[in-house]
Amino acid sequence: MGRSNVLAILHPRRGVGKTTIAVNLAATLVKAEHWTVLIDLDPESDASRALGVDLTNGSRSIAAVIRGRAHLREICIPTASGIDLVPAHLDLAVFGTGDGGHRASLVGRLSEEMDGIDAYAFAFLDCPSGLNALVHTALALADQVLIPYQTDERERIPEALRNLLSEAPHPTKINLIANKVIGVEHETDVHENAGDLEVSYVGAIRYSPMLQERNALGLPPVILGPEDEAAKDFAELAAELTFN
Ligand SMILES: Nc1ncnc2c1ncn2[C@@H]1O[C@H](COP(=O)(O)OP(=O)(O)OP(=O)(O)O)[C@@H](O)[C@H]1O
Ligand SMILES: [Mg+2]
Repeated sequence: MGRSNVLAILHPRRGVGKTTIAVNLAATLVKAEHWTVLIDLDPESDASRALGVDLTNGSRSIAAVIRGRAHLREICIPTASGIDLVPAHLDLAVFGTGDGGHRASLVGRLSEEMDGIDAYAFAFLDCPSGLNALVHTALALADQVLIPYQTDERERIPEALRNLLSEAPHPTKINLIANKVIGVEHETDVHENAGDLEVSYVGAIRYSPMLQERNALGLPPVILGPEDEAAKDFAELAAELTFN
């Protein structure tokens, strides 16, 4: 059996597009026949809802796995998009706080569980904003991180995130994605403020109103509007990630 390529999508700021990129990139990879699982690590559960899943209680959420009451593969739900989803519920919030020992137990518990779903080509971890214990855990589980940023932001990788990445427990490829790009822009200074970190710029997603639309079926925008410019950007990004 193969081993999934595990990608954590993280950024401390709210609203930079973590969930949008997780859901639409996963959908694009599925369309290209890469079997993909999305693990929702955000208690706000935006990715779960975007895929049409809104749990009424936590008995089948990722928190049940952390509590040792279920296995990841048991709570994984096939969605209309073709993405398999490990959903979140607000009950995950309690695991966001805690010391190093708490983080180590989260990592230990979930890394064992990740071994049980290693047949997927890609596993995405959609992180909450901030840099709490859940984000530390995602970084420890990931082979690569995807960091969306907005080109109008002065600081693309905030210092706290830079520090977290430089302390990553194992070598982790750091990929930057420009999001909400308006017009044609050329990236000339992506290494700006990366400090000693080695980062790769892997693509840009244009600003598109389509990405803000939700539908009752839980189908990601790129599936409903494949001719949209942003859908083409996701296809390029998916190709970049599958070649590397
Ligand atoms: N390329 C884009 N074009 C237009 N709107 C976008 C784009 N990317 C994201 N958005 C919109 O920006 C808002 C925030 O995006 P999203 O929820 O993905 O961010 P997030 O980083 O996951 O936020 P949070 O930290 O709260 O989880 C959403 O309304 C989303 O539809
Ligand atoms: Mg989000």
